[in-house]
Amino acid sequence: MKIAVLPGDGIGPEIIRQAVRVLDALRADGLPLTLEEGVLGGAACDRHGEPYPDATARLVRAADAVLLGAVGGPQYDTLERALRPERGLLAIRKDLGLFANLRPAVLYPQLANASTLKPEVVSGLDIMIVRELTGDIYFGQPRGIGVNAAGEREAFNTMRYSESEVRRIAHVAFGIAMKRNRRLCSVDKANVLETTEFWKEVVTDVARDYPEVELSHMYVDNAAMQLVRNPRQFDVMVTGNIFGDILSDEASMLTGSIGMLPSASLDANNKGLYEPSHGSAPDIAGRDLANPLATILSAAMMLRYTFHREEEARRVEDAVKTVLASGLRTADIWEAGCEKISCSGMGDAVVAAL
Ligand code: NAI
Ligand code: MG
Repeated sequence: MKIAVLPGDGIGPEIIRQAVRVLDALRADGLPLTLEEGVLGGAACDRHGEPYPDATARLVRAADAVLLGAVGGPQYDTLERALRPERGLLAIRKDLGLFANLRPAVLYPQLANASTLKPEVVSGLDIMIVRELTGDIYFGQPRGIGVNAAGEREAFNTMRYSESEVRRIAHVAFGIAMKRNRRLCSVDKANVLETTEFWKEVVTDVARDYPEVELSHMYVDNAAMQLVRNPRQFDVMVTGNIFGDILSDEASMLTGSIGMLPSASLDANNKGLYEPSHGSAPDIAGRDLANPLATILSAAMMLRYTFHREEEARRVEDAVKTVLASGLRTADIWEAGCEKISCSGMGDAVVAAL
């Protein structure tokens, strides 16, 4: 179980340190993990002059999974585009062929007040959004800004999906639905867009391999509405790149706390990149204030999806629940009556609970 650890920038090193302590605790219990550290993003620009150096590429290609903090920061904003830290993230995703982005939105009962929605609407929320990452209007050709036949300036992008791209993401989503509650909602705009009409048709065909899963379809505009009206109707959702980008951010905010939200990006063989959904939070970096739970929960996803260690994944998630139930909170999720603790203090507490 080879893990490449890329702390990155800003709060990255602080939150990664706590997740590594959790993995170390599991290793001490006999889980055969090997961790090796590398640089990505701004940290790599500082040291090697580029955001995704060869040494990092070799490290992540040889690993089974990558655990990443976050990249970027205001000190890099003046760099030319190709050298920006975010380029490192795009490069690593492309290099590893990561096409399935898994974004859970889980509301822990102890944090029911963190949501902007009423507790009776969101309590018990547990959704998994599966977003396709490599196709759709973000990558389709042709694209550009030009001048049309009438001499007017115009701009265009192309929404495009191949059958194999839709099939492989559908298989990932059905596989996850099988491990959860066997309900999958595919989101499209099939009434208007041929690309998503095709998406719906292919997903429906893949469904024949998963007769135990109840498949439903929803238009994206309705899905956006239903996510705030009655989010608990959803279990696993699967959708294309642009709809998934928007819906996964919407769903994550239902829980009200960005410091709690993990993510995974998988390739065809369950190799994965695991990272918190948030960024490098330069405003609080270096002050031991950040919430490391999104990163610790990302490590739990790694145990589940890459290493198929459901038991250890649950142990980590249960440890997080135990800590929250005991009233310990980092500043971002603190509320009256709870004890405010630091990033490293949260790491201590999770390791102790584990
Ligand atoms: P951000 O997610 O870094 O921060 C947004 C707000 O949430 C800030 O107030 C921050 O303090 C807070 N926050 C984020 N994570 C937190 C945590 N774990 N605990 C407590 N509070 C937390 O987004 P922002 O400010 O838009 O971007 C900052 C930098 O991060 C930029 O350079 C951006 O490009 C980069 N970024 C990197 C991402 C990645 O590596 N995947 C994703 C998003 C942004
Ligand atoms: Mg987004």
